[in-house]
Order: sequence, then C-alpha cells, then structure tokens
Amino acid sequence: MNYTAPRGTKDVLPPDSQVWQKVEAKFRELCERFSYGEIRTPTFEQTELFARGVGDATDVVRKEMYNFEDKGGRAMTLRPEGTAGVVRAYLEHGLASLPSPQKLFYLISAFRYEKMQKGRYREFAQLGCECFGSAEPSADAEIISLLWLFFSELGMNDISLQLNSIGCPDCRPAYLDQLRDYLRPHLGDLCEDCQKRFEINPMRILDCKQEACQAITQDAPAPLDTLCPSCQDHWEELLRLLDFYAIPYTVNKRIVRGLDYYTRTVFEFISDNVGSQGTICGGGRYDGLVEELGGQATPAVGFALGVERLLLELEAQDLLPQPDQEAQIFIASFPAYQDQASAFAYRLRSAGIHAEADILGRSFKAQLKHANRMGATYLMVFGEEEAARMNATIKRMADGEEFEMSFDELVQFLLQQL
Ligand code: HAM
Repeated sequence: MNYTAPRGTKDVLPPDSQVWQKVEAKFRELCERFSYGEIRTPTFEQTELFARGVGDATDVVRKEMYNFEDKGGRAMTLRPEGTAGVVRAYLEHGLASLPSPQKLFYLISAFRYEKMQKGRYREFAQLGCECFGSAEPSADAEIISLLWLFFSELGMNDISLQLNSIGCPDCRPAYLDQLRDYLRPHLGDLCEDCQKRFEINPMRILDCKQEACQAITQDAPAPLDTLCPSCQDHWEELLRLLDFYAIPYTVNKRIVRGLDYYTRTVFEFISDNVGSQGTICGGGRYDGLVEELGGQATPAVGFALGVERLLLELEAQDLLPQPDQEAQIFIASFPAYQDQASAFAYRLRSAGIHAEADILGRSFKAQLKHANRMGATYLMVFGEEEAARMNATIKRMADGEEFEMSFDELVQFLLQQL
C-alpha cells in the first residue's frame, strides 16, 4: 500500500522548512518588540468552546470543523482557529486579574474541512496576536501597525489593508433589521447559503462571493453607515491614528469577517497574487467574547495570518527569504583517517560551526564530488600530514584560494566567517 498525506495537508521539507523558520523567527522577533508573549494552547478543545466562541451560525462551525468523540465520550474538536482557545486559557489561568493589557502571540496549526484550492488547506498554519484589556482605538492601531511592520520588513509593498467597522450590540440589531428589510424582496434570488444566512447571520451575505448575491447587495445598507455615536468615535479615532502613523488603508464596507465574535473594527490584508484566497490576514476587535466564554466583560483585539498564503505571496513577489548556505566546511578524508576526520568535524560543530564529513564510507574522489555538489564554502582534506602536524589546508570553493593554518586557528577562522 502506498500512503500519501491526507487531502488538504502537506509536508514541508528542507530547504523549504528553513524558509518557514525564517518567517516564523521574524514574527517572533517583531512580537517581542511589541511586548507580546508566546502562548501555546492545545490542538484540540471541547467542541462547545468553538460553537459558543466562533458562533453556531458560522460556516466554520456548521460545516468545517473536525469533530470527534474521545474515548471518554467527550465531544472534542481540532481547533479551526486560535482565538477561542486563547480566550479560554486567558480565563482559566486568571490572566484577567493581571495588569492590562495582556498581549499574547501564537504560532499554530488550525484545521478546517474546506474545499481544496490554491492557498486553502484543511490543515494550515496561523501566526496570531491577541491583546486583552484595552477598548481604546490605539490598541487597534497598535496591532495593525505590528502587521504593517511585519509585511514591510519582509519587503511586501503590494498588499492592501482593508478596514471596516461592523458596530456593537447597541447598533447592530437595528442595522440587521434594516439589512433584512432591504434583502427580503430579493430573498429568492440569493444563493442557497445566503438564504440560510438571511435569518441567522445576514451580515455574511455582504461578503458572499457569488455574483448574484454581490449584485443584490451592491446597494445594501452597510454597517459602517449605521454606527452608534460611540462606535463612530472609535472608528474616526482609529482612522486618525492610522493617518498619523502614515499606514495606508482602504475603507471597505463589505468586510464583515466569517466568525461571529467581531465588534467594531474588522480588517483584512489582501493581495491579488494568492488566487481567489486573497486574504492573507484577518482580524479585528471582539469586545464580547471574553464575557461570552464566562469572564468579565473585557475588550480585546487581534488577528491571525495564514502562513501558506503569506509564502505564496512572498513567492509571487520574489521575496522568499533564502535558505541558509550549505555547510561552511566539508572535511574529505582518506579511508584510514575517516574516524579522525569525523572527530574533527565533531570538534568544529561543538564550536558552533556548520561542518560536514563523510558518513557513507565513500571513496576520497566521491567525497570531493559530493563536497562540490553540496556547495560547501570550504573544503579540507584530512590525511596523514594533517593528522601528524595538526595543521590544515583549506580551499575556498568559490575561487580555489587555499589557506594554511593550525587546527586551533582554523576554528577561529571559521567562527569569524559566521
Ligand atoms: P480567519 O480570517 O478565519 O480569522 O483566518 C485568518 C487567516 O488564516 C486567513 O486570513 C487566512 O490567511 C488563513 N486561513 C484561514 N483558513 C485557511 C485555510 N483553509 N487554508 C489556508 N489558510 C487559511 C481567524 O482565524 C481569527 N481567529 C483571527 C483573529 C484573531 N481575529 C481576532 N483575533
């Protein structure tokens, strides 16, 4: 039997895994600059957490979750996103009683049973941040500025920040009534999914990708036009701050996001290069979620960024970080000196140097061929003379220049090149 990775999943192999590591390292480093601490939560949680947190009416909960019953008969789910688990941990560990704001970041796998497409997988990686305890627009602006810096420092100029406000529990019910009134005469012309959304989640109809639905909603009332005074103030202040930071954005009244917990600010970073799955990152404010999951009312704002989509975008813009070079030095040896050569490679590695020696019992000639092919920076030959004099001659592969020095000097020489 031939086994293959499950549909919608993928293996990441070297050297691609190094590219992943570099992107992840950049994200970690940036999060630390903004005082975010890493949180690691379980890959699966009680199904109920997502049903409540993400929302019973969302596509994610209704159609896409990997649910299973564990051997104790408990309903469990592989996390379809990171926010609900982070909020659960925030409450469980009393982070709410620590000084605000609490700022947490994560690197996770998430799971959604979706139709496969370019940039859409069933297991995918997210980099995310959640900031708890501030209702101020400056918290929204700070988190957006973190993302803006992340994309800029990766060299991405071709990405668009789309911004909207979808109101709060004070202004939304009146808005939803208004929206239903507008849509009711067209109900029969909406797609099947949107007909279901009409009662349970009509705002989602605004970002349906079906042409017929888009035509109907073209002139529909937008949440942004019906904000209550305090949502309006929050929105205007956020725009003022982004202008002040010189972060460009586009107001997009149709962005409503696919998860139920959002209030006020919602945003997406969008690119044309990732096919129909152009949203590289999505986020926003979710001031009701902590309370919904059993805590005190706590404002919060966050985002998650899809790593696969980010890498597709970086590739399209020819910006993928380069994998590191191959070994700094390859030590080729004659058969009688193979043990000494590998012991010397061990010594170099102990000193922090990327060194390689033969472990296949290859002939000397075959080792030289391999050193050439693997692209090592230096080649050292280990034979009788080297063993007797503890002296090495190394050749720089790029131009053939040779350097002679003692073993001790060689360690220093290579360390300086790092
Ligand atoms: P989301 O928009 O569902 O938001 O997902 C965030 C990002 O994850 C998307 O923009 C996309 O890049 C990536 N993504 C989602 N589904 C897939 C998929 N099937 N395959 C590949 N990539 C995918 C959230 O998950 C929220 N928890 C974000 C958030 C955090 N809001 C506040 N805090």
